[in-house]
Amino acid sequence: MFETLKAQPADKILALMQMYRDDPRDTKVDLGVGVYKDATGLTPVMRAVKAAEHQIWETQDSKVYTGLAGDPAFADAMIALILGDAVSRGSVAAAATPGGTGAVRQAFEMIQMAKPDARVFVSDPTWPNHLSILKYLGMEVVPYRYFNDETRGVDFDGMIADLKTAHAGDVILLHGCCHNPTGANLNAAEWDVVIKLLQDTGATPMIDIAYQGFGDGLDADAAATRKIAAAVPECLIAASCSKNFGIYRERTGLLMAVTADSSAHALNQQTLAFLNRQNYSFPPDHGARIVTTILNDAALRGDWMAELEEVRNAMLGLRTDLAAELQRLSGSDRFGFIAQHRGMFSRLGTTPDKVEELRVKHGIYMVGDSRMNIAGLNARTVPILAHAIIDVGI
Ligand code: LMR
Repeated sequence: MFETLKAQPADKILALMQMYRDDPRDTKVDLGVGVYKDATGLTPVMRAVKAAEHQIWETQDSKVYTGLAGDPAFADAMIALILGDAVSRGSVAAAATPGGTGAVRQAFEMIQMAKPDARVFVSDPTWPNHLSILKYLGMEVVPYRYFNDETRGVDFDGMIADLKTAHAGDVILLHGCCHNPTGANLNAAEWDVVIKLLQDTGATPMIDIAYQGFGDGLDADAAATRKIAAAVPECLIAASCSKNFGIYRERTGLLMAVTADSSAHALNQQTLAFLNRQNYSFPPDHGARIVTTILNDAALRGDWMAELEEVRNAMLGLRTDLAAELQRLSGSDRFGFIAQHRGMFSRLGTTPDKVEELRVKHGIYMVGDSRMNIAGLNARTVPILAHAIIDVGI
């Protein structure tokens, strides 16, 4: 029977990972998949993660199932980390998921269960897997303008004009911080306009927050999510621990459904548990336990925050270094946006042909839409990249 299957398109980000591995050049630079690398090119296990794993290894006396929604202590710790005191704990239904992608997938399924013909507004561009999952689920996608190719900043007027066409029963997918793939983000005043728009249209926000702590700091990166959650009657939040805890392969995420209505809350919680049961039964626990251990232990939490801050500052340093080197080589300020962008990514804003030329001629690997993983750079590779960008005439 399986001969009837059709080959599915390869994920562009993951295909690039393989091409990079196969390239023998020692000057090659991997700016593809969103993974942090330190100055030596390694993706280290964070100190607090190692310590938490050690603690778990010593004290864990059973690996019996947790609850269908995962360990409630994980949800408590993550809700506090992301939402602070913006909403009451009692208004947040939550379920652990396999990574942020698991949370995104469950969120889309929950939307589809509630309203099969819901339209999902997504930024153009967005993380390709958003589109892939929505297509797989047969859900209607409405792109909204987001990136200004000239300024490499947010096309805010275009974004608002497009989002004004949403109405109650539609979902607006927003990146809580560190927009993937562009690195261009809204400022606080712009978020306020979006919140007003959400209230006026009645559309339901779904926030994907995968990079908290990578932009302007843990609290600053959660500020928009907190404000939205407090301002609208209901919202969904898909969170990832892959990047800020560096536990990519542990698949650790949380889906939250926020509502002040207590009967809706109970139904949300029951639905999240049901969705977990249908898709994989119990969510993975090891990563969630690491995160809970860190967040609930003052010393581990302090060390994690300090290391995350080192990572964030290293990325900011790479941004300024790259922008400065490009300024020096090009004699112009046209690459200044790289220092303005936040998070792991920056969209260079060039054509697929130039991206291809960078790869073939210089061994620079970035996604075809010219998304660069800034966290994949280091002091040695910044000049290589800057030289290559100028050499191919970007
Ligand atoms: C990325 O965008 O590179 C990351 O979120 C990793 C992934 O799964 O695509």
